[in-house]
Amino acid sequence: MNNFRNICIYLILIFTCSFVICQDIPDGRYELSSALINDKLYFFGGATDATNSSNEVYYIDLSSTFDIFTPPFKKVSTRMPVGDNLGTCVSSPDNSTIFLIGGRMTSTSTAVYKFDPISLQWTIPIIDGFNNSFINRNEINAVIDSKGKTYIFCGTDYNVGNSAVGINIFYEMSLFDTTSMTWSTSTLPTNILPRIDYSATLLPIGLIIYIGGHTQLTPSSAYTYTSFNDILIFDTKSLSWSNKTASGATIQPRAGHSAVLIKDGNIIIFGGANGAAQVYPDLAVLNTNTWIWSVPSNSTVNAPPSLAFHTANLYKIYMIIAFGGKTFQKVVRPYVYSNNIYIFDTETYSWVSSFNEVSQGTPTNKGGTSTNQGGLSTDNGNSSTYKIILKEIEKNLISEGLHNSDLYDKEKHGNSVV
Ligand SMILES: *[C@@H]1O[C@H](CO)[C@@H](O)[C@H](O)[C@H]1NC(C)=O
Ligand SMILES: *[C@@H]1O[C@H](CO)[C@@H](O)[C@H](O)[C@H]1NC(C)=O
Ligand SMILES: *[C@@H]1O[C@H](CO)[C@@H](O)[C@H](O)[C@H]1NC(C)=O
Ligand SMILES: *[C@@H]1O[C@H](CO)[C@@H](O)[C@H](O)[C@H]1NC(C)=O
Ligand SMILES: *[C@@H]1O[C@H](CO)[C@@H](O)[C@H](O)[C@H]1NC(C)=O
Ligand SMILES: *[C@@H]1O[C@H](CO)[C@@H](O)[C@H](O)[C@H]1NC(C)=O
Repeated sequence: MNNFRNICIYLILIFTCSFVICQDIPDGRYELSSALINDKLYFFGGATDATNSSNEVYYIDLSSTFDIFTPPFKKVSTRMPVGDNLGTCVSSPDNSTIFLIGGRMTSTSTAVYKFDPISLQWTIPIIDGFNNSFINRNEINAVIDSKGKTYIFCGTDYNVGNSAVGINIFYEMSLFDTTSMTWSTSTLPTNILPRIDYSATLLPIGLIIYIGGHTQLTPSSAYTYTSFNDILIFDTKSLSWSNKTASGATIQPRAGHSAVLIKDGNIIIFGGANGAAQVYPDLAVLNTNTWIWSVPSNSTVNAPPSLAFHTANLYKIYMIIAFGGKTFQKVVRPYVYSNNIYIFDTETYSWVSSFNEVSQGTPTNKGGTSTNQGGLSTDNGNSSTYKIILKEIEKNLISEGLHNSDLYDKEKHGNSVV
């Protein structure tokens, strides 16, 4: 009798899952890129396994609340013209266009594509002075300023399938002006070391803060990790370089971490990997006035597993982490890639399971940014029904000796790509 009930509940879950919740669920992936346009957070490409470079585009609409167990992924009907991983994306200041720049593209006829999120069209922009040696450039992170100038630091030309011999790290800054559609390349001063797999964060005063990643002490030497105390700074106003020595908490060197700037001027870094292994701490804060590192919270409630080559974007007060390689499992093949979303509240410094404040219609505009004025539907797709079903199943499964974590994997549809 009880078994019959369990089966029924399971079937209900499967039906709910197929028709309501699991629509457009992307495969797990890492090395993707993301861009925020108004209330939509777009995800481009990424590697779904060691060899498959995806050309899919997904987005989530952040204007409605959702919880991390049922992220409302939507697949964009138009795919990218190329598969791409380890590239970078920027949104034009007027939010009309997303540029996909570099990465390991499955076609190397160019390295820049333009996406119109309204018409869903992809085009190849004509860029005056585009440097063909940028084709195949990857392991990069670009920033765009309010004038549409995009800065792309270094990168490598390594590509799976190409010979590993003669991998170059480029000692240069590429400047792509998306307003005038011009491109220029400048060589680094001799005292500045190149980096790849770093994070790049633009401060409002026009400084780009480069943190972590790999470097090369000489053009022929092997990669090494840069210390998280070596903060490299590019001034977009004077086009000059400088550096700061950070102090405070010890942050293990890593590559493939993310960084977002929050409103008090602090940079939050998350994740990354050292070799293939997990790094500590997962999350840290760099104060850009004092250059002191701190570790605010290590609560594991609603927190992601350790991830590398995921995406991170700041939406209002929330840092949204998506996808990524699960580093603690990466040392053992098959690799496991995430398709989950995690939300970090940058005011309370805690991981949350949903946009609670927004969903209750409470004004969240502590920083002066306008937010949804309470006119929101609180349950997009009504996941509470789903939650009630889950609660029932949880009770039943636990009573049969199944672990909560088994349920959680289903709940988050945490798929492992094997
Ligand atoms: C590559 O990944 C996409 C998206 O996950 C998937 O649809 C496709 O089947 C994969 N191709 C191969 C050859 O594995
Ligand atoms: C573009 O979208 C971003 C991200 O939501 C937003 O912060 C910004 O104000 C928007 N810009 C314009 C010009 O609408
Ligand atoms: C193009 O890039 C290459 C190497 O990345 C550099 O040597 C060359 O000077 C650049 N060309 C121009 C016109 O900037
Ligand atoms: C960092 O700054 C120090 C002191 O100003 C300087 O000696 C050094 O060359 C700089 N290093 C880099 C990589 O800019
Ligand atoms: C979290 O931080 C507390 C206080 O700093 C420390 O005692 C504890 O060991 C930490 N836990 C983990 C899992 O790092
Ligand atoms: C969602 O479902 C619950 C439980 O069935 C119901 O109480 C609630 O009114 C629904 N909410 C919306 C927004 O439809």
